[in-house]
Amino acid sequence: MRILVTGGAGFIGSNFVHRRLATTDDHITVVDKLTYAGNPANLRGLADDPGTRERYRFVQADIADEPLMKELATDSDAIVNFAAESHVDRSILEPTAFLHTGVMGVYSLLEAARAEADKRDGRFRLLQVSTDEVYGPVPEGLSVESDPIHPTSPYSAAKAAGEHLVAAYHETHGIDTVITRGANTYGPNQYPEKLIPLFVTNALDDETLPMYGDGMQRRDWLHVTDHADGIATVLDHGEPGAAYNICGDGIERPNRAVTKAILDHLGKPWSLVRSVPDRPGHDRRYALDGSRLRALGWAPQTSFEQGIALTVDWYAANRDWWEPIKSGEWQDFYQKQYAWRLEQSTTA
Ligand code: NAD
Ligand code: DAU
Repeated sequence: MRILVTGGAGFIGSNFVHRRLATTDDHITVVDKLTYAGNPANLRGLADDPGTRERYRFVQADIADEPLMKELATDSDAIVNFAAESHVDRSILEPTAFLHTGVMGVYSLLEAARAEADKRDGRFRLLQVSTDEVYGPVPEGLSVESDPIHPTSPYSAAKAAGEHLVAAYHETHGIDTVITRGANTYGPNQYPEKLIPLFVTNALDDETLPMYGDGMQRRDWLHVTDHADGIATVLDHGEPGAAYNICGDGIERPNRAVTKAILDHLGKPWSLVRSVPDRPGHDRRYALDGSRLRALGWAPQTSFEQGIALTVDWYAANRDWWEPIKSGEWQDFYQKQYAWRLEQSTTA
């Protein structure tokens, strides 16, 4: 297959690209704007490695550049769209880019898919990587794919808007689309603004871990390799027009438990943790029913205990990856997001 992987220089997209090139004969073109979150280091080696260099190319571009997306789609059989602004806190501070990429970007990819599908008797697939956050908070039970979506942050609203466009193009134009809704993902190469890499890197430097509110918000954590493999399964076997949840190991953990696991692995004290004013509109719980994807043969392979140990060890061993990130633009964001919160912090 020839795949256009958009947002492929980010955390999950780059993992998908590495795994797909290693396990198939696919040819992959990565398109990435290289926003603050896009990192060429995540794709290091692919352009030079004899096993991949003939099957990989990188194009720096915005997915909202519709003429270019149409041109690139002519050489592809499918688009897998990871591109998005992905951090909830940033969507609260400054949502414009979320709407640009989540609405106009997705629209542009759908137009590219439509142009190709028209030429090829419908044989062109678009996979939209979405999120469990579109369901909104789930006080009890598990979200199934037919549940109504109820996003609560500008981030999840932009992702939901993208999903609606994808569903509309499937219904109206008959485009072969599939959607994945993944759970909270963690692992190596994740930008250190998210809970796990932020707390790991802060703890490594003996800095404060800013826990929002009571820390009892619950998530079902999904290791990045399992998320990437779930997306690959849907790309290869998903039913046109369907959405698929990608759940974690099914054990919900409050943020406090995740934090304790990190500190215990590093041998660092709980006194590094401070409770800070909460994220506005903070969803207390997400929980997914993963049976639709399991029926296609996928199951998560990494337990949280294994995954968190691997992840903490990776950040400890790869300071050269994350230390340069935690300067420049990062410092501005950190000040805006945390300076006033840390001033008001209390014992956790
Ligand atoms: P990330 O922020 O690490 O990567 C996003 C990538 O998209 C970056 O490389 C960035 O440069 C690129 N990008 C952003 N806007 C672009 C644009 N207009 N044109 C081209 N490239 C652009 O994000 P991630 O954590 O790897 O998430 C990837 C996808 O998975 C996102 O769509 C996200 O909504 C979804 N998702 C993430 C998680 C999670 O826990 N991280 C869980 C479920 C779903
Ligand atoms: O559920 C899938 C989603 O998971 C993805 O769609 C998003 O792209 C991804 O960012 C992630 O969203 P969350 O908001 O759940 O992840 P985050 O790592 O930002 O936060 C996880 C939990 O930790 C959440 O309850 C908020 C809390 N938190 C987070 C940060 C950054 C803190 O307590 N302190 C923090 O400093």
